Amino acid sequence: MPAADTLRYTRIPLAHGSGAIPAVGFGTLIPDPVVANQAIKVALKVGFRHFDCSERYRNEDVVGNAMGEAFKAGRVRRADIFVTTKLWNSNHRPERVKPAFEASLRRLQIDYADGYLIHTPFAFQPGDEQDPRDAAGQVIYDSGVTLVETWQAMERLVDEGPCRAIGLSDISLDKLKEIVAAARIKPAVVQVESHPYLPEWELLDFCRQHGIVVLAFAPLGHGMDPRITDDPVIRAIAQRVHKTPAQVALAWAVQRGTAFLTTSTSPAHIRENFEISPLPADAVQEIRDGIATSVRFNAVVETGVPGFIPRVS
Ligand SMILES: NC(=O)c1ccc[n+]([C@@H]2O[C@H](COP(=O)([O-])OP(=O)(O)OC[C@H]3O[C@@H](n4cnc5c(N)ncnc54)[C@H](OP(=O)(O)O)[C@@H]3O)[C@@H](O)[C@H]2O)c1
Repeated sequence: MPAADTLRYTRIPLAHGSGAIPAVGFGTLIPDPVVANQAIKVALKVGFRHFDCSERYRNEDVVGNAMGEAFKAGRVRRADIFVTTKLWNSNHRPERVKPAFEASLRRLQIDYADGYLIHTPFAFQPGDEQDPRDAAGQVIYDSGVTLVETWQAMERLVDEGPCRAIGLSDISLDKLKEIVAAARIKPAVVQVESHPYLPEWELLDFCRQHGIVVLAFAPLGHGMDPRITDDPVIRAIAQRVHKTPAQVALAWAVQRGTAFLTTSTSPAHIRENFEISPLPADAVQEIRDGIATSVRFNAVVETGVPGFIPRVS
């Protein structure tokens, strides 16, 4: 690796939170606990220092164990890892926010979170049932709380200390503007689906102007069809720069100023996804100008119901 090839170690300072977020992140939405444990250990070993979690993934304890083992063995220090977790839809009532946050910290076996996000802007019926449904199978929403009220409870977590930055996920630009206008502590991070088929330029521009980091999930399009790694523009660039198509899509994500979260259960892919290198400027531009395909892979933004989590645990 040439000395100047430090793209994979990029950290983006948080204008509205403490510290800096590593641009290269690993998502922990891996339902099988044994597979998740192994994947997280490999991710730590190859160099990932940013982990994305959620109470909704129902595996914070698995993530906590995998990280805890690495801390105890002295392979990595807690201070070197950026851990984000998320408040689920059934905990939007202000009085539920702090208990939900503390329960996440306990499961993760950490005493502070680097980031805590509202997982979606949709409030579900408050309670321990994460997927409340009526007799007809329809989601039961909660009209008794506004997103601003939930946000204010998130701000109090920052005031109290164990939460170093707060943010939103699966949010539209219009809703984000409302929160930014009302916030005492502005969102440090916004996590949304984003990749060459859904670049979200307008959202990114707004976030740049307001010092908010865009954290792209599905940077490889969830591995779904049409596959970003099969895109002819991405493949041609990959051939030219002697990298894989996945590495091209991920390098592009960092070079245009976002952080990203990728997930894999394959040790080879996990390593590959960390070992990104800068693309020449013309390749970054070519991905913007030369790709016309437009796809949103994840419908969570429409209903708040996650696409990839089985309804029954
Ligand atoms: N806020 C939200 O609502 C939300 C929603 C979804 C996800 N997320 C977060 O985002 C994280 C990222 O997940 P994602 O699905 O969006 O990630 P992604 O990286 O876009 O897609 C993962 C898929 O791509 C494949 N893949 C990974 N690396 C590859 C490579 N180098 N070459 C070819 N295929 C590769 C994986 O298969 P293999 O396992 O075979 O490698 C897997 O099927 C999640 O874990 C979660 O933390 C958040």
